[in-house]
Amino acid sequence: MIGSLKMPVSSPSNQLQKILAPLGEKAERDLRQFLTEPGTPAELAEAMAYCTLDGGKRLRPGRVYRTAEAVGADSDDELTRRAAVAVELVHCYSRVHDDLPAMDDDSLRRGRPTAHVKFGEAMAILTGDALLTRSFSVLAESEDPTASMLVGELAKAAGATGMIAGQAADMDLCEIPDGLEGLKYIHSRKTGAMIRAAVRMGAICGNASDDKLSALDEYGLSLGLAFQLTDDLLDVTASSADLGKTAGKDAASGKRTHLGQMGIADAADIAKTLTNRAIEAIGPLGAAADTLAKLARLLAKRKS
Ligand code: IPE
Ligand code: IPE
Ligand code: MG
Ligand code: MG
Ligand code: MG
Repeated sequence: MIGSLKMPVSSPSNQLQKILAPLGEKAERDLRQFLTEPGTPAELAEAMAYCTLDGGKRLRPGRVYRTAEAVGADSDDELTRRAAVAVELVHCYSRVHDDLPAMDDDSLRRGRPTAHVKFGEAMAILTGDALLTRSFSVLAESEDPTASMLVGELAKAAGATGMIAGQAADMDLCEIPDGLEGLKYIHSRKTGAMIRAAVRMGAICGNASDDKLSALDEYGLSLGLAFQLTDDLLDVTASSADLGKTAGKDAASGKRTHLGQMGIADAADIAKTLTNRAIEAIGPLGAAADTLAKLARLLAKRKS
């Protein structure tokens, strides 16, 4: 009675975990190799390690590796590994500063006390500064001539027209349009810019053709928007234990999110449309981009 045998069905969370686990291990190895420069004071090195190692989904380095592979490169190449580390260091610094009392004032991150709770506010600010600076020196230490392009990509994404513009708008510190247009402004910058940069940097490490780079760029752009929209949805629908950060924070702090303008189902529909757009964008890369497409699909269903 083969037809009646119950085959174990792999849930989206398990499938996502299967893709992310090896990428996370690889990112952890690369971060450990490049994180600390000799001469870093022990206290600062400890705080940098606390904010960086042993945690997180490692989606940004994962995208660098898998995008490089999608355009035919080896993700073990040193430049690709440095690019992955640089992107994750900017992400980790951005979390430390995002959690500060003057910003989102969060006490839980990746299931642990936030940096300012653990080390005090001054050390948290300085640790963020050190991680941001280190991200650029990790690239600058490379002898590969492509590294300077990566520095430019990272600086643009992390800086005053990218992530910082988004964070300033998110904190209501600069004027942006009302409604969905304003939300797109915030999301594409505070979160989308670094996700897009991770994809672009992976493509650049693999010497992607202009056509492939622009397809991947569109993928990164749509995925970045979908990712923040899902983050906002999870803030409402998931628990702090699942998220490893405080749930319900956005409404409590009066943040601008889609959920202030529409219901959960409509917001989820927009996330789905953006995810489909991301997957369509990389259609021309064929089977080489299968993992990137699968990652997009599963991330839309993530629970943390
Ligand atoms: C959280 O990013 C912040 C956003 C950009 C929404 P992640 O959900 O990727 O956080 P980690 O790295 O897994 O902790
Ligand atoms: C993410 O915004 C902003 C950046 C990645 C810079 P959130 O403030 O929503 O991120 P979480 O929810 O604290 O991780
Ligand atoms: Mg924030
Ligand atoms: Mg926050
Ligand atoms: Mg959030």
